[in-house]
Amino acid sequence: MDREPSKKIRDILKRDSKAILTTTRLPYVFMADKARGDFAYDVDGRKFIDFSSFIAVYNFGAGSIEDVKKAVKLQADKLMHTAFYDYYSELPVEFAENLLSMFPKGFGKTFFSNSGTEANEAALKFAKLFTKKQYNIAFYGAFHGRTHGSLGLTASKSKYRKMFGPFGNTIHALYPYCYRCPLGKEFPSCGVACADYVKDTIFARDMPADQIGAMFIEPIQGEGGYIVPPKEFMKKMRKIADENEILLVSDEVQAGYMRTGKFLAMENFGVEADIYSMAKALGGGLPFGATITRTSLGDIPKGSHASTFGGNLMAVAAANALIKYVKKNRASLEKVSKEKGAYARKRLEEMKERYELVGDVRGIGLMIAIELVKNKDTKEPAIEETEEIMKKCFSKGLLLMPTGISSIRIIPPLTITMENLEKGLNVLESAIKEISIRKR
Ligand SMILES: Cc1ncc(COP(=O)(O)O)c(C=O)c1O
Repeated sequence: MDREPSKKIRDILKRDSKAILTTTRLPYVFMADKARGDFAYDVDGRKFIDFSSFIAVYNFGAGSIEDVKKAVKLQADKLMHTAFYDYYSELPVEFAENLLSMFPKGFGKTFFSNSGTEANEAALKFAKLFTKKQYNIAFYGAFHGRTHGSLGLTASKSKYRKMFGPFGNTIHALYPYCYRCPLGKEFPSCGVACADYVKDTIFARDMPADQIGAMFIEPIQGEGGYIVPPKEFMKKMRKIADENEILLVSDEVQAGYMRTGKFLAMENFGVEADIYSMAKALGGGLPFGATITRTSLGDIPKGSHASTFGGNLMAVAAANALIKYVKKNRASLEKVSKEKGAYARKRLEEMKERYELVGDVRGIGLMIAIELVKNKDTKEPAIEETEEIMKKCFSKGLLLMPTGISSIRIIPPLTITMENLEKGLNVLESAIKEISIRKR
């Protein structure tokens, strides 16, 4: 299949490079035109199976929930923007109630913004207000956003932070990346020794616990490489937080909203956080962030936080229609995510057996990644091969996104048919096979 960019695409690329500042882009050029369900189409009308959910946003297929589209169209005719943190409006309140109904008991307050990074900025400020403490703990490998406060928490790639410091009030702890243990140990014989770093090193050498207000954690590290911590680790973090009056903030921006089968990814660990941040899938394709707090934490002082577009009616209309769909279908979405995830994991584990390149397979539900290595013993990251595989898959009609240093995410919509899931995995395997043969 011809996947060389057409003249039309080349022309748009030229205009793009003139008018748009450089940010991040993939190793292949997908010039999006439209998407429906399992498929995405480029401006030349070429069709792709979507294994990216457009970066974990379309968790239920692009444009496939009719009620979301209907709600947005109706709202567009009525009122798009309501200055919600100045005026009042019923729809954001209804949405807040629906959202909170998906949370464990005791979660009763929300703040709405427009993105994941803003949801975390709000969490940073709220934690300071609630605890009167200035410092935070975050983890190496974490990604919490790119605005100044959240960038201080982010530590997945140094290039994200280069030139933007100083970031004075966050101290980074060790995340249990068991495939590449930062302490050179093995789970479970390690007894999750990395968890002790918080007490032994941070509290003892960096900053006493009584100065630390919040611990920001991704239940599964997203940009860090889809790293799944052992349950014991998360429970230890909860315990450390409890013992030291530190608020646990779960960043659910990527792992939340049913991606792992659970509404909150933290549910997989049997742990409750005190503050949750959400975005990506939450808005059903429109920009939306939310910060959700435990009722017992109380309220924030008037005027201490707000946002012009927070609670924007277009985004809220989409989010409210989507949460109603999720509420109604929660059990079946959990089931399909488990089943499809298990099938994908099995296929990927088989690939790990067959190909030297596939070093690790990990994930929960339909949040899965494979880590590619040049050699299973040395675990040298197969960076170029990762790019080549994604390019090859693109040329064969499959959209994939990278994560970590040399990993590929497998995050199709939860609603993907088994047929398309299998087709996509077949494409991925054929690309891994081709690259593996070439490397020999
Ligand atoms: C876990 C996590 N938190 C925060 C963010 C930042 O979200 P946004 O890009 O909407 O600001 C991301 C984005 O990928 C993320 O994965």
